[in-house]
Amino acid sequence: MDRGTTVLQAAAELGFDIPHFCYHPALSIPANCRMCLVEVERARTLLPACCTQVTDKMVVHTENETVKQARRAVLEFILVNHPVDCPICDQAGECKLQDYYLAYDAQASRVRTTKVTKVKVYPLGPEVVYDGERCILCTRCVRFCNEVTGTAELTVVERGDRSGIRTFPGQELDNAYSMCTVDLCPVGALTSRDFRFKCRVWLLSSADSICTGCSRGCAIHMEHHQSEVQRYRPRYNPEVNEYWMCDEGRLSYKELHREDRLTKLQINGASFTWPQGLEKAASMLGGAIESHGKDGVGVVFSPQATCEDLFMARRFALEALGTNNHYVGGKPGGQGDDFLITPDKDPNRNGLLVMFPRRSRPAPFEQLIEDMRSGKIRVLYMMGSEIPVEGQLREDFLAEVAKLDLFVLQASRGGELADTARIILPACTHAEKDGTFINVDGIAQSVTKAFEPHGRSRADWQIFMRLGRKMGAEMSYTFFKELREEMVALMTKNTTEVDEEPPAEEEPQQPEQEESTQEAAGADA
Ligand code: SF4
Ligand code: SF4
Ligand code: FES
Repeated sequence: MDRGTTVLQAAAELGFDIPHFCYHPALSIPANCRMCLVEVERARTLLPACCTQVTDKMVVHTENETVKQARRAVLEFILVNHPVDCPICDQAGECKLQDYYLAYDAQASRVRTTKVTKVKVYPLGPEVVYDGERCILCTRCVRFCNEVTGTAELTVVERGDRSGIRTFPGQELDNAYSMCTVDLCPVGALTSRDFRFKCRVWLLSSADSICTGCSRGCAIHMEHHQSEVQRYRPRYNPEVNEYWMCDEGRLSYKELHREDRLTKLQINGASFTWPQGLEKAASMLGGAIESHGKDGVGVVFSPQATCEDLFMARRFALEALGTNNHYVGGKPGGQGDDFLITPDKDPNRNGLLVMFPRRSRPAPFEQLIEDMRSGKIRVLYMMGSEIPVEGQLREDFLAEVAKLDLFVLQASRGGELADTARIILPACTHAEKDGTFINVDGIAQSVTKAFEPHGRSRADWQIFMRLGRKMGAEMSYTFFKELREEMVALMTKNTTEVDEEPPAEEEPQQPEQEESTQEAAGADA
Protein backbone atom coordinates (compact mmCIF):
# COMPACT_ATOMS: atom_id res chain seq x y z
CA MET A 1 0.00 0.00 0.00
CA ASP A 2 1.20 3.52 -0.75
CA ARG A 3 2.08 5.78 2.15
CA GLY A 4 -1.01 7.77 3.16
CA THR A 5 -3.49 5.09 2.07
CA THR A 6 -6.48 5.13 4.40
CA VAL A 7 -8.08 2.09 5.95
CA LEU A 8 -11.19 2.64 3.81
CA GLN A 9 -9.13 2.79 0.60
CA ALA A 10 -7.04 -0.21 1.57
CA ALA A 11 -10.15 -2.22 2.42
CA ALA A 12 -11.73 -1.29 -0.93
CA GLU A 13 -8.60 -2.39 -2.77
CA LEU A 14 -8.76 -5.72 -0.96
CA GLY A 15 -12.45 -6.12 -1.77
CA PHE A 16 -13.97 -5.16 1.61
CA ASP A 17 -16.73 -2.57 1.55
CA ILE A 18 -16.76 -0.28 4.58
CA PRO A 19 -20.04 1.69 4.74
CA HIS A 20 -19.61 5.46 4.38
CA PHE A 21 -21.64 8.58 3.63
CA CYS A 22 -19.37 11.62 3.66
CA TYR A 23 -16.27 10.09 2.04
CA HIS A 24 -15.91 10.45 -1.74
CA PRO A 25 -12.65 9.59 -3.52
CA ALA A 26 -12.58 12.88 -5.43
CA LEU A 27 -13.30 15.17 -2.46
CA SER A 28 -11.57 16.18 0.76
CA ILE A 29 -12.21 14.06 3.86
CA PRO A 30 -14.23 15.78 6.64
CA ALA A 31 -14.98 12.52 8.53
CA ASN A 32 -18.28 13.95 9.74
CA CYS A 33 -20.75 11.09 9.32
CA ARG A 34 -19.00 8.42 11.46
CA MET A 35 -20.55 5.66 9.40
CA CYS A 36 -17.14 4.20 8.59
CA LEU A 37 -16.04 3.49 12.17
CA VAL A 38 -13.83 0.40 12.47
CA GLU A 39 -11.98 -1.25 15.33
CA VAL A 40 -8.21 -1.00 15.15
CA GLU A 41 -6.39 -3.24 17.60
CA ARG A 42 -4.58 -1.31 20.33
CA ALA A 43 -6.54 1.92 19.55
CA ARG A 44 -8.49 3.36 22.51
CA THR A 45 -11.71 4.06 20.50
CA LEU A 46 -13.27 3.08 17.20
CA LEU A 47 -11.66 5.04 14.37
CA PRO A 48 -13.13 6.49 11.16
CA ALA A 49 -11.72 4.35 8.33
CA CYS A 50 -11.94 7.23 5.82
CA CYS A 51 -9.28 9.31 7.59
CA THR A 52 -7.17 6.72 9.39
CA GLN A 53 -3.99 5.84 7.54
CA VAL A 54 -2.81 2.26 7.36
CA THR A 55 0.43 1.43 9.14
CA ASP A 56 2.66 -1.62 9.26
CA LYS A 57 1.15 -4.63 11.04
CA MET A 58 -2.07 -2.74 11.76
CA VAL A 59 -4.98 -5.11 12.55
CA VAL A 60 -8.43 -3.75 11.61
CA HIS A 61 -11.84 -5.30 12.31
CA THR A 62 -14.49 -4.07 9.90
CA GLU A 63 -17.38 -6.40 10.72
CA ASN A 64 -17.16 -7.47 14.37
CA GLU A 65 -19.99 -6.94 16.88
CA THR A 66 -18.52 -3.69 18.31
CA VAL A 67 -18.30 -2.15 14.84
CA LYS A 68 -21.78 -3.31 13.85
CA GLN A 69 -23.19 -1.87 17.08
CA ALA A 70 -21.54 1.48 16.30
CA ARG A 71 -23.04 1.49 12.80
CA ARG A 72 -26.46 0.71 14.27
CA ALA A 73 -26.08 3.65 16.66
CA VAL A 74 -24.99 6.05 13.90
CA LEU A 75 -27.94 5.03 11.75
CA GLU A 76 -30.39 5.37 14.63
CA PHE A 77 -29.03 8.85 15.29
CA ILE A 78 -29.35 9.89 11.61
CA LEU A 79 -32.88 8.52 11.49
CA VAL A 80 -34.12 10.40 14.57
CA ASN A 81 -35.46 13.22 12.42
CA HIS A 82 -35.34 11.57 9.00
CA PRO A 83 -38.81 11.49 7.37
CA VAL A 84 -38.38 7.94 5.97
CA ASP A 85 -40.56 8.93 3.02
CA CYS A 86 -38.95 6.30 0.79
CA PRO A 87 -42.16 5.53 -1.15
CA ILE A 88 -42.13 9.04 -2.65
CA CYS A 89 -38.35 9.55 -2.68
CA ASP A 90 -36.53 9.46 -6.02
CA GLN A 91 -33.43 8.03 -4.35
CA ALA A 92 -35.26 4.93 -3.11
CA GLY A 93 -33.59 1.91 -4.66
CA GLU A 94 -30.19 3.58 -4.88
CA CYS A 95 -30.06 5.18 -1.40
CA LYS A 96 -27.14 4.49 0.89
CA LEU A 97 -29.26 5.19 3.96
CA GLN A 98 -31.83 2.58 2.89
CA ASP A 99 -29.12 0.04 2.11
CA TYR A 100 -27.18 0.55 5.33
CA TYR A 101 -30.36 0.57 7.42
CA LEU A 102 -31.26 -2.86 6.05
CA ALA A 103 -27.69 -4.14 6.41
CA TYR A 104 -26.86 -2.84 9.92
CA ASP A 105 -29.93 -1.45 11.70
CA ALA A 106 -33.22 -3.02 10.65
CA GLN A 107 -34.94 -2.25 13.94
CA ALA A 108 -38.16 -0.37 14.64
CA SER A 109 -37.74 3.28 15.62
CA ARG A 110 -37.46 3.96 19.35
CA VAL A 111 -38.18 7.68 18.88
CA ARG A 112 -41.43 8.69 20.56
CA THR A 113 -41.17 12.47 20.03
CA THR A 114 -42.33 14.55 17.07
CA LYS A 115 -39.71 14.80 14.33
CA VAL A 116 -38.19 18.17 13.49
CA THR A 117 -39.59 19.45 10.21
CA LYS A 118 -37.55 21.38 7.65
CA VAL A 119 -37.83 22.68 4.09
CA LYS A 120 -39.19 19.94 1.85
CA VAL A 121 -39.11 21.32 -1.71
CA TYR A 122 -36.44 24.00 -1.79
CA PRO A 123 -34.93 24.86 -5.21
CA LEU A 124 -31.22 25.55 -4.77
CA GLY A 125 -30.89 26.45 -8.45
CA PRO A 126 -32.51 25.85 -11.83
CA GLU A 127 -31.72 22.11 -11.89
CA VAL A 128 -31.43 20.99 -8.27
CA VAL A 129 -34.12 20.74 -5.59
CA TYR A 130 -33.26 20.32 -1.88
CA ASP A 131 -35.20 18.41 0.77
CA GLY A 132 -33.92 19.51 4.18
CA GLU A 133 -35.57 16.66 6.07
CA ARG A 134 -33.74 13.99 4.10
CA CYS A 135 -30.34 15.71 4.31
CA ILE A 136 -27.79 13.90 6.49
CA LEU A 137 -25.35 16.86 6.37
CA CYS A 138 -22.50 14.89 4.85
CA THR A 139 -21.37 18.10 3.01
CA ARG A 140 -20.45 16.28 -0.19
CA CYS A 141 -22.46 18.87 -2.19
CA VAL A 142 -20.74 21.77 -0.40
CA ARG A 143 -17.28 20.31 -0.96
CA PHE A 144 -18.02 19.66 -4.65
CA CYS A 145 -18.82 23.34 -5.20
CA ASN A 146 -15.75 24.41 -3.22
CA GLU A 147 -13.23 21.93 -4.55
CA VAL A 148 -14.31 20.80 -8.03
CA THR A 149 -16.14 23.70 -9.68
CA GLY A 150 -14.63 26.32 -7.37
CA THR A 151 -17.94 28.20 -7.44
CA ALA A 152 -18.64 27.84 -3.68
CA GLU A 153 -22.38 28.53 -3.82
CA LEU A 154 -23.35 26.20 -0.95
CA THR A 155 -22.82 26.20 2.80
CA VAL A 156 -24.21 24.64 5.96
CA VAL A 157 -26.45 27.02 7.93
CA GLU A 158 -27.82 26.90 11.50
CA ARG A 159 -26.79 24.51 14.29
CA GLY A 160 -27.83 21.14 15.72
CA ASP A 161 -31.06 19.65 14.43
CA ARG A 162 -31.86 22.93 12.59
CA SER A 163 -28.82 22.61 10.32
CA GLY A 164 -29.32 22.53 6.58
CA ILE A 165 -27.77 23.33 3.22
CA ARG A 166 -28.38 26.71 1.60
CA THR A 167 -26.84 28.88 -1.08
CA PHE A 168 -25.09 32.08 0.02
CA PRO A 169 -27.39 35.14 -0.07
CA GLY A 170 -28.04 36.34 -3.63
CA GLN A 171 -26.57 33.18 -5.15
CA GLU A 172 -28.08 30.16 -6.88
CA LEU A 173 -26.63 26.72 -7.47
CA ASP A 174 -26.37 27.26 -11.21
CA ASN A 175 -22.82 26.33 -12.19
CA ALA A 176 -22.34 24.26 -15.37
CA TYR A 177 -21.92 21.05 -13.34
CA SER A 178 -24.58 21.62 -10.66
CA MET A 179 -26.34 18.30 -11.25
CA CYS A 180 -23.24 16.38 -10.13
CA THR A 181 -24.35 17.29 -6.59
CA VAL A 182 -27.40 15.08 -7.16
CA ASP A 183 -25.12 12.13 -8.03
CA LEU A 184 -22.99 12.85 -4.98
CA CYS A 185 -25.85 13.11 -2.48
CA PRO A 186 -25.97 9.70 -0.78
CA VAL A 187 -29.66 10.15 0.11
CA GLY A 188 -32.66 11.76 -1.57
CA ALA A 189 -31.96 15.27 -0.28
CA LEU A 190 -30.84 16.60 -3.66
CA THR A 191 -32.95 15.65 -6.63
CA SER A 192 -32.74 16.66 -10.25
CA ARG A 193 -35.64 18.77 -11.41
CA ASP A 194 -35.51 16.83 -14.67
CA PHE A 195 -35.69 13.34 -13.15
CA ARG A 196 -37.93 14.02 -10.11
CA PHE A 197 -40.90 11.64 -10.01
CA LYS A 198 -40.19 10.49 -13.56
CA CYS A 199 -39.27 6.83 -13.18
CA ARG A 200 -38.54 4.47 -10.29
CA VAL A 201 -34.87 3.60 -10.48
CA TRP A 202 -35.42 -0.16 -10.24
CA LEU A 203 -37.25 0.00 -13.57
CA LEU A 204 -34.20 1.41 -15.31
CA SER A 205 -31.80 -0.62 -17.44
CA SER A 206 -28.35 0.75 -18.12
CA ALA A 207 -25.93 0.70 -21.04
CA ASP A 208 -22.34 1.96 -21.05
CA SER A 209 -22.23 4.86 -23.45
CA ILE A 210 -20.85 8.36 -23.91
CA CYS A 211 -22.34 11.84 -23.94
CA THR A 212 -22.38 13.23 -27.47
CA GLY A 213 -22.82 16.84 -26.32
CA CYS A 214 -19.23 17.85 -27.12
CA SER A 215 -15.92 16.39 -28.19
CA ARG A 216 -14.95 15.48 -24.59
CA GLY A 217 -17.25 12.45 -24.86
CA CYS A 218 -17.82 11.99 -21.12
CA ALA A 219 -18.39 8.35 -20.18
CA ILE A 220 -21.96 7.80 -19.03
CA HIS A 221 -24.47 5.27 -17.81
CA MET A 222 -27.30 5.59 -20.33
CA GLU A 223 -30.32 4.66 -18.23
CA HIS A 224 -33.48 3.76 -20.08
CA HIS A 225 -36.96 2.34 -19.65
CA GLN A 226 -39.29 1.07 -22.38
CA SER A 227 -36.92 2.13 -25.18
CA GLU A 228 -36.65 5.71 -23.93
CA VAL A 229 -33.60 7.20 -22.28
CA GLN A 230 -34.65 8.55 -18.86
CA ARG A 231 -31.36 10.03 -17.71
CA TYR A 232 -27.59 10.12 -18.18
CA ARG A 233 -25.28 9.62 -15.20
CA PRO A 234 -21.51 10.06 -15.35
CA ARG A 235 -19.51 6.81 -15.51
CA TYR A 236 -16.07 6.88 -13.90
CA ASN A 237 -13.33 7.22 -16.50
CA PRO A 238 -10.08 8.61 -15.09
CA GLU A 239 -8.81 9.46 -18.59
CA VAL A 240 -11.83 11.44 -19.72
CA ASN A 241 -14.24 12.82 -17.12
CA GLU A 242 -13.42 11.14 -13.79
CA TYR A 243 -16.77 11.19 -11.90
CA TRP A 244 -18.34 14.22 -13.56
CA MET A 245 -20.29 15.54 -16.51
CA CYS A 246 -21.82 18.92 -17.33
CA ASP A 247 -25.52 19.74 -16.95
CA GLU A 248 -25.97 20.55 -20.63
CA GLY A 249 -24.51 17.21 -21.69
CA ARG A 250 -26.52 15.39 -19.03
CA LEU A 251 -29.75 16.84 -20.42
CA SER A 252 -28.73 16.24 -24.05
CA TYR A 253 -30.43 12.81 -23.90
CA LYS A 254 -33.61 14.71 -24.77
CA GLU A 255 -32.33 15.14 -28.32
CA LEU A 256 -32.67 11.39 -28.79
CA HIS A 257 -36.43 11.57 -28.48
CA ARG A 258 -37.30 14.81 -30.19
CA GLU A 259 -40.51 15.12 -32.16
CA ASP A 260 -38.68 15.32 -35.49
CA ARG A 261 -37.17 11.83 -35.01
CA LEU A 262 -37.09 10.00 -38.35
CA THR A 263 -38.43 6.45 -38.22
CA LYS A 264 -39.68 5.89 -41.78
CA LEU A 265 -37.89 5.50 -45.10
CA GLN A 266 -39.50 8.10 -47.34
CA ILE A 267 -39.08 8.87 -51.02
CA ASN A 268 -40.86 11.88 -52.47
CA GLY A 269 -43.09 11.92 -49.39
CA ALA A 270 -44.20 8.26 -49.62
CA SER A 271 -43.16 5.59 -47.08
CA PHE A 272 -41.34 2.46 -48.18
CA THR A 273 -40.04 -0.75 -46.62
CA TRP A 274 -36.25 -1.08 -46.67
CA PRO A 275 -36.03 -3.54 -49.62
CA GLN A 276 -38.35 -1.45 -51.84
CA GLY A 277 -36.97 1.87 -50.67
CA LEU A 278 -33.32 0.90 -51.18
CA GLU A 279 -34.11 -0.38 -54.68
CA LYS A 280 -35.76 2.91 -55.59
CA ALA A 281 -33.11 5.05 -53.89
CA ALA A 282 -30.36 3.15 -55.73
CA SER A 283 -32.03 3.72 -59.07
CA MET A 284 -32.61 7.44 -58.35
CA LEU A 285 -28.98 7.89 -57.32
CA GLY A 286 -27.83 5.91 -60.37
CA GLY A 287 -29.94 8.15 -62.63
CA ALA A 288 -28.58 11.31 -61.00
CA ILE A 289 -24.98 10.12 -61.45
CA GLU A 290 -25.70 9.41 -65.12
CA SER A 291 -27.04 12.94 -65.59
CA HIS A 292 -24.43 14.87 -63.65
CA GLY A 293 -21.44 12.57 -63.59
CA LYS A 294 -19.70 11.39 -60.42
CA ASP A 295 -18.13 14.82 -59.99
CA GLY A 296 -21.58 16.36 -59.61
CA VAL A 297 -22.19 14.33 -56.45
CA GLY A 298 -21.17 15.46 -52.95
CA VAL A 299 -21.23 13.56 -49.65
CA VAL A 300 -21.39 15.15 -46.18
CA PHE A 301 -19.80 13.08 -43.40
CA SER A 302 -21.09 13.66 -39.88
CA PRO A 303 -18.71 13.93 -36.90
CA GLN A 304 -21.76 13.03 -34.82
CA ALA A 305 -21.62 9.48 -36.20
CA THR A 306 -19.60 6.53 -34.90
CA CYS A 307 -16.31 5.42 -36.44
CA GLU A 308 -18.02 2.32 -37.84
CA ASP A 309 -20.67 4.48 -39.54
CA LEU A 310 -18.00 6.77 -40.97
CA PHE A 311 -15.93 3.85 -42.20
CA MET A 312 -18.89 2.56 -44.21
CA ALA A 313 -19.84 6.09 -45.29
CA ARG A 314 -16.40 6.54 -46.81
CA ARG A 315 -16.57 3.20 -48.58
CA PHE A 316 -20.03 4.07 -49.88
CA ALA A 317 -18.89 7.45 -51.18
CA LEU A 318 -15.87 5.99 -52.96
CA GLU A 319 -17.18 2.62 -54.12
CA ALA A 320 -20.92 3.13 -54.70
CA LEU A 321 -21.14 6.82 -55.62
CA GLY A 322 -17.58 7.02 -56.95
CA THR A 323 -17.11 10.59 -55.78
CA ASN A 324 -14.22 12.36 -54.12
CA ASN A 325 -16.31 15.40 -53.19
CA HIS A 326 -16.30 14.88 -49.43
CA TYR A 327 -17.33 17.47 -46.84
CA VAL A 328 -17.56 17.65 -43.04
CA GLY A 329 -20.97 18.30 -41.46
CA GLY A 330 -21.90 18.35 -37.77
CA LYS A 331 -22.97 21.04 -35.34
CA PRO A 332 -21.75 24.63 -35.12
CA GLY A 333 -19.09 25.26 -32.47
CA GLY A 334 -20.00 26.73 -29.08
CA GLN A 335 -18.58 27.68 -25.72
CA GLY A 336 -16.04 25.61 -23.84
CA ASP A 337 -14.55 25.91 -20.36
CA ASP A 338 -11.32 24.98 -18.58
CA PHE A 339 -12.75 21.78 -17.11
CA LEU A 340 -14.65 19.33 -19.35
CA ILE A 341 -16.74 21.27 -21.85
CA THR A 342 -15.09 21.76 -25.25
CA PRO A 343 -16.08 24.31 -27.92
CA ASP A 344 -16.39 21.51 -30.51
CA LYS A 345 -19.93 20.16 -30.16
CA ASP A 346 -19.26 17.08 -32.30
CA PRO A 347 -18.22 13.95 -30.37
CA ASN A 348 -16.26 12.19 -33.12
CA ARG A 349 -14.30 14.70 -35.21
CA ASN A 350 -11.10 12.80 -34.54
CA GLY A 351 -12.81 9.56 -35.59
CA LEU A 352 -13.89 11.20 -38.84
CA LEU A 353 -10.46 12.60 -39.62
CA VAL A 354 -8.64 9.35 -39.00
CA MET A 355 -10.90 7.56 -41.48
CA PHE A 356 -9.21 9.45 -44.32
CA PRO A 357 -5.56 9.62 -45.39
CA ARG A 358 -4.15 12.97 -44.31
CA ARG A 359 -3.93 14.28 -47.86
CA SER A 360 -7.55 13.60 -48.81
CA ARG A 361 -9.53 14.64 -45.79
CA PRO A 362 -13.05 16.02 -46.35
CA ALA A 363 -13.38 19.71 -47.12
CA PRO A 364 -15.03 22.18 -44.72
CA PHE A 365 -18.76 22.81 -45.03
CA GLU A 366 -18.17 26.32 -46.36
CA GLN A 367 -16.52 24.72 -49.41
CA LEU A 368 -19.67 22.68 -50.00
CA ILE A 369 -21.79 25.83 -50.05
CA GLU A 370 -19.34 27.34 -52.53
CA ASP A 371 -19.45 24.22 -54.72
CA MET A 372 -23.26 24.23 -54.66
CA ARG A 373 -23.35 27.91 -55.56
CA SER A 374 -21.00 27.38 -58.50
CA GLY A 375 -23.15 24.51 -59.78
CA LYS A 376 -20.44 21.90 -59.29
CA ILE A 377 -22.54 19.87 -56.84
CA ARG A 378 -26.00 18.95 -58.16
CA VAL A 379 -26.60 15.84 -56.07
CA LEU A 380 -25.99 15.80 -52.30
CA TYR A 381 -25.95 12.83 -49.93
CA MET A 382 -25.98 14.20 -46.41
CA MET A 383 -25.29 12.23 -43.26
CA GLY A 384 -26.96 13.83 -40.21
CA SER A 385 -29.29 16.81 -40.24
CA GLU A 386 -26.99 19.13 -38.29
CA ILE A 387 -25.76 22.20 -40.17
CA PRO A 388 -22.37 23.38 -38.94
CA VAL A 389 -22.72 26.99 -40.08
CA GLU A 390 -24.91 29.76 -38.74
CA GLY A 391 -26.43 33.08 -39.82
CA GLN A 392 -26.29 34.01 -43.50
CA LEU A 393 -24.20 30.96 -44.45
CA ARG A 394 -26.88 28.70 -43.04
CA GLU A 395 -29.54 30.53 -45.03
CA ASP A 396 -27.37 30.24 -48.15
CA PHE A 397 -26.98 26.52 -47.61
CA LEU A 398 -30.72 25.96 -47.18
CA ALA A 399 -31.38 28.00 -50.33
CA GLU A 400 -28.83 25.99 -52.33
CA VAL A 401 -30.18 22.67 -51.05
CA ALA A 402 -33.61 23.61 -52.40
CA LYS A 403 -32.08 24.02 -55.89
CA LEU A 404 -30.38 20.59 -55.99
CA ASP A 405 -31.50 17.93 -58.45
CA LEU A 406 -31.36 15.27 -55.78
CA PHE A 407 -30.94 15.64 -52.03
CA VAL A 408 -30.65 12.51 -49.87
CA LEU A 409 -30.84 12.87 -46.09
CA GLN A 410 -29.67 10.00 -43.91
CA ALA A 411 -30.27 11.06 -40.32
CA SER A 412 -32.01 10.26 -37.06
CA ARG A 413 -33.74 13.65 -36.97
CA GLY A 414 -35.26 15.63 -39.82
CA GLY A 415 -34.68 19.18 -38.61
CA GLU A 416 -34.97 21.89 -41.24
CA LEU A 417 -33.84 19.58 -44.01
CA ALA A 418 -36.58 16.93 -43.93
CA ASP A 419 -38.94 18.91 -46.18
CA THR A 420 -36.30 19.43 -48.88
CA ALA A 421 -34.99 15.87 -49.02
CA ARG A 422 -36.39 13.68 -51.79
CA ILE A 423 -34.98 10.57 -50.15
CA ILE A 424 -35.04 10.22 -46.34
CA LEU A 425 -33.19 7.25 -44.85
CA PRO A 426 -33.95 6.94 -41.10
CA ALA A 427 -30.82 6.32 -39.02
CA CYS A 428 -30.45 5.11 -35.43
CA THR A 429 -29.30 7.27 -32.58
CA HIS A 430 -26.21 6.18 -30.65
CA ALA A 431 -28.56 4.67 -28.04
CA GLU A 432 -29.64 2.08 -30.58
CA LYS A 433 -26.35 0.70 -31.86
CA ASP A 434 -22.83 -0.35 -30.92
CA GLY A 435 -19.98 1.86 -32.04
CA THR A 436 -16.80 3.77 -31.29
CA PHE A 437 -16.11 7.46 -30.72
CA ILE A 438 -12.69 9.12 -30.53
CA ASN A 439 -12.66 12.15 -28.30
CA VAL A 440 -10.82 15.47 -28.38
CA ASP A 441 -7.74 13.90 -26.74
CA GLY A 442 -7.69 10.95 -29.14
CA ILE A 443 -9.18 8.52 -26.60
CA ALA A 444 -11.37 5.84 -28.16
CA GLN A 445 -14.50 4.78 -26.27
CA SER A 446 -17.14 2.24 -27.17
CA VAL A 447 -20.87 2.75 -26.89
CA THR A 448 -23.19 -0.20 -26.46
CA LYS A 449 -26.68 -0.59 -27.80
CA ALA A 450 -29.24 0.28 -25.10
CA PHE A 451 -32.40 -0.76 -26.92
CA GLU A 452 -33.71 -1.75 -30.35
CA PRO A 453 -33.94 0.93 -33.07
CA HIS A 454 -37.12 2.97 -33.11
CA GLY A 455 -39.46 2.33 -36.06
CA ARG A 456 -37.64 1.46 -39.27
CA SER A 457 -34.46 3.31 -38.36
CA ARG A 458 -31.18 1.42 -38.83
CA ALA A 459 -27.53 2.03 -37.98
CA ASP A 460 -25.84 4.29 -40.55
CA TRP A 461 -23.28 1.64 -41.42
CA GLN A 462 -26.04 -0.86 -42.18
CA ILE A 463 -27.80 1.61 -44.48
CA PHE A 464 -24.59 2.43 -46.36
CA MET A 465 -23.77 -1.25 -46.73
CA ARG A 466 -27.13 -2.29 -48.09
CA LEU A 467 -27.58 0.72 -50.36
CA GLY A 468 -24.02 0.31 -51.59
CA ARG A 469 -24.70 -3.30 -52.50
CA LYS A 470 -27.83 -2.30 -54.41
CA MET A 471 -25.65 0.12 -56.36
CA GLY A 472 -23.19 -2.60 -57.31
CA ALA A 473 -20.45 -2.07 -54.72
CA GLU A 474 -19.04 -5.12 -52.99
CA MET A 475 -19.73 -4.21 -49.37
CA SER A 476 -20.66 -7.08 -47.13
CA TYR A 477 -19.96 -8.04 -43.53
CA THR A 478 -21.60 -10.94 -41.77
CA PHE A 479 -20.61 -9.75 -38.31
CA PHE A 480 -20.06 -6.32 -36.85
CA LYS A 481 -16.62 -7.32 -35.58
CA GLU A 482 -15.45 -7.98 -39.17
CA LEU A 483 -16.32 -4.42 -40.05
CA ARG A 484 -14.51 -3.21 -36.94
CA GLU A 485 -11.38 -5.16 -37.81
CA GLU A 486 -11.26 -3.64 -41.30
CA MET A 487 -11.95 -0.21 -39.86
CA VAL A 488 -9.10 -0.51 -37.36
CA ALA A 489 -6.77 -1.63 -40.16
CA LEU A 490 -7.71 1.45 -42.22
CA MET A 491 -7.28 3.77 -39.25
CA THR A 492 -3.89 2.26 -38.48
CA LYS A 493 -2.83 2.71 -42.09
CA ASN A 494 -4.02 6.32 -42.13
CA THR A 495 -2.31 7.23 -38.87
CA THR A 496 0.97 5.47 -39.57
CA GLU A 497 1.45 6.46 -43.20
CA VAL A 498 4.54 8.59 -43.67
CA ASP A 499 3.84 12.15 -44.74
CA GLU A 500 6.26 14.64 -46.09
CA GLU A 501 5.08 17.10 -43.48
CA PRO A 502 4.59 15.79 -39.94
CA PRO A 503 1.09 16.33 -38.48
CA ALA A 504 0.62 19.45 -36.37
CA GLU A 505 -1.52 17.70 -33.81
CA GLU A 506 -1.24 14.39 -32.01
CA GLU A 507 -2.98 11.55 -33.81
CA PRO A 508 -5.90 9.77 -32.16
CA GLN A 509 -5.33 6.36 -30.60
CA GLN A 510 -6.90 3.26 -32.10
CA PRO A 511 -10.04 1.90 -30.48
CA GLU A 512 -9.72 -1.40 -28.71
CA GLN A 513 -11.20 -4.20 -30.71
CA GLU A 514 -14.18 -5.76 -29.05
CA GLU A 515 -16.21 -8.82 -29.77
CA SER A 516 -19.72 -8.03 -30.82
CA THR A 517 -22.53 -10.31 -31.75
CA GLN A 518 -24.46 -7.59 -33.54
CA GLU A 519 -25.17 -8.97 -36.97
CA ALA A 520 -24.44 -6.97 -40.04
CA ALA A 521 -27.27 -8.30 -42.15
CA GLY A 522 -30.12 -6.72 -40.24
CA ALA A 523 -31.09 -3.67 -42.29
CA ASP A 524 -34.13 -5.14 -44.03
CA ALA A 525 -37.37 -4.75 -42.12
S1 SF4 B 1 -27.81 17.61 0.47
FE1 SF4 B 1 -27.06 15.53 0.22
S2 SF4 B 1 -24.91 15.80 -0.34
FE2 SF4 B 1 -25.58 17.74 0.53
S3 SF4 B 1 -25.08 17.59 2.71
FE3 SF4 B 1 -27.20 16.90 2.50
S4 SF4 B 1 -27.04 14.69 2.28
FE4 SF4 B 1 -25.01 15.50 1.89
S1 SF4 C 1 -18.44 18.02 -21.15
FE1 SF4 C 1 -19.16 17.55 -23.20
S2 SF4 C 1 -19.19 15.33 -23.32
FE2 SF4 C 1 -19.01 15.90 -21.15
S3 SF4 C 1 -21.11 15.91 -20.40
FE3 SF4 C 1 -20.66 17.99 -21.08
S4 SF4 C 1 -21.35 18.06 -23.20
FE4 SF4 C 1 -21.22 15.93 -22.63
S1 FES D 1 -17.15 8.24 5.70
FE1 FES D 1 -15.81 8.28 7.38
S2 FES D 1 -16.71 9.65 8.72
FE2 FES D 1 -18.01 9.72 6.97
